[in-house]
Amino acid sequence: MKLVLAFLLAVTTLSQQVTCTTLRLSYKAIFNFGDGLSDTGNLVILSPTALYIGNPPYGETYFNRPTGRASNGRLVVDFIAQSIPLPLAPPYLAKGQDFSKGANFAVTRATALDLKFYLDNNIIPTGLALLNTSLSVQLGWFANLMPSLCNTTDECNLYFSNSLFLLGSIGFSDYTTMLTAGKTVDYVNSKVPDIVCSITSAATSLLDQGVQHMVVPGVVPLGCIPRILTVYGSPNASDYDSIGCLQRYNNISQYHNKMVRDAVKQLQIEFPKAVISYADYYEPITKFLATPRIYGFTVNRSPLVACCGGGGPYNYNLSAVCGQSGVTACPDPTTVNWDGVSFTEKAYSIIASGWRNGFRSLVHDFIPRTWLSSTAFIYLTRLSITRPRISSIGHDFRSLVHGFHSSDMAFIHLTKSFLPQSMSTSTMAVMDIIVLIEHHFFHFNFCLTSAYLNFFSLAEVTFAVSNHILLKSIFVLIACGMHALQ
Ligand SMILES: *[C@@H]1O[C@H](CO)[C@@H](O)[C@H](O)[C@H]1NC(C)=O
Ligand SMILES: *[C@@H]1O[C@H](CO)[C@@H](O)[C@H](O)[C@H]1NC(C)=O
Ligand SMILES: *[C@@H]1O[C@H](CO)[C@@H](O)[C@H](O)[C@H]1NC(C)=O
Ligand SMILES: *[C@@H]1O[C@H](CO)[C@@H](O)[C@H](O)[C@H]1NC(C)=O
Ligand SMILES: *[C@@H]1O[C@H](CO)[C@@H](O)[C@H](O)[C@H]1NC(C)=O
Repeated sequence: MKLVLAFLLAVTTLSQQVTCTTLRLSYKAIFNFGDGLSDTGNLVILSPTALYIGNPPYGETYFNRPTGRASNGRLVVDFIAQSIPLPLAPPYLAKGQDFSKGANFAVTRATALDLKFYLDNNIIPTGLALLNTSLSVQLGWFANLMPSLCNTTDECNLYFSNSLFLLGSIGFSDYTTMLTAGKTVDYVNSKVPDIVCSITSAATSLLDQGVQHMVVPGVVPLGCIPRILTVYGSPNASDYDSIGCLQRYNNISQYHNKMVRDAVKQLQIEFPKAVISYADYYEPITKFLATPRIYGFTVNRSPLVACCGGGGPYNYNLSAVCGQSGVTACPDPTTVNWDGVSFTEKAYSIIASGWRNGFRSLVHDFIPRTWLSSTAFIYLTRLSITRPRISSIGHDFRSLVHGFHSSDMAFIHLTKSFLPQSMSTSTMAVMDIIVLIEHHFFHFNFCLTSAYLNFFSLAEVTFAVSNHILLKSIFVLIACGMHALQ
């Protein structure tokens, strides 16, 4: 059976909400700012003895050598570059590299707030040298690099319109620096708005320069990090959540991420021509820890335990950290956490594909093979919604799609009336329906697969999606064909 792909625009009743979309599948360059979650080698160039990430077993799984990445292999930014595909963005401080296809300005332990803030407030962590590599310093590096990328306004606009900018994750090291320097959780929480403000002003500065595609990742759950669990452990079981993370510290991350999401929404309003998206580390990591088996993580030990470390309940030991001589990694690094602070290549790979579960991979990987080979027609309908939160669906889709939500989940309710009128009842009887929720990330090509349902003679379907996703639109893929007749 020859496969016919028909991209059907609009159901008559929906014509006002449906827009034709150009799928954007590639970028010509990728630029990244941030901390150790995305540093591909700047810290070890800047300060070779600052940490142990320049030593084995860092890098053992993918690179077979330490590269300055705080992991056993690739980071999320690497997986995103490879999926575009682009070369891995070289660290900016590695002089003499070709930066025309991207550069990475992230530095392990970089803070969102300037060094001046820490010095002025006498926030000096014991045993850790403070670095002058904050977000504003990284932006300065980008400004220095710019003339080698483009010169005239036109040239730069064209270059930026084809480039992807990742701004973060950053903020984690602000929080750990303050905590290590003896500041209380209340103090740290009081600084969250300043930290998010520094991210917002970096974003504004880049958008003012003509950046058009920006992703702003949030921070990881602080209270699930082996280092935090080891240093701030509590004898009181009620301080831990159901996964075993320290709730008070997770709260800092939740507050940060909520403020970043709100800031992204605001930026999207201020810069309507740009595509600005929040990307989440928090939920995926929480899910890995809650149900490690589902994601293929080892379940030999508690998922909270680091792979590489010098002992202790979370395999994190302040006097014997990963990279120090005599400290070994677990034989199979399919744990969630790598070294007590950073995560494994496996964790990063799942996070990256979750962010970039693109249209292309959707067609090729998600739709069941049997379904494709036996399907005569696929109709794709894109239902746009104007407000990003899922709770707005009921309003925007009116009677066709009703959305309602609890704290965690949103439920979308489809009735037959949204289907193309040209489809006969008999066709509908052999129809399958896939609903794709487009992540508020990367324009049109990043869809989150949500549900695969057999429509058959059902009059209506209801399905649930996580309410944490920032929605831009919903795609409904309808396939009708021969397979049900087999
Ligand atoms: C950090 O570096 C920037 C630019 O590289 C410089 O302007 C600033 O004075 C430095 N801050 C401190 C506290 O040394
Ligand atoms: C911009 O101008 C500088 C100085 O003339 C030159 O060295 C550089 O190669 C130019 N950049 C581009 C992208 O053409
Ligand atoms: C444990 O924490 C709870 C809530 O903060 C508190 O009510 C309780 O008294 C604490 N128990 C102990 C033994 O400290
Ligand atoms: C976490 O934050 C929520 C709301 O912001 C608050 O109700 C709760 O008490 C906090 N929990 C802890 C342990 O700080
Ligand atoms: C932590 O490392 C030190 C130094 O190697 C060692 O003496 C100590 O036993 C370790 N602690 C744990 C809990 O394994």
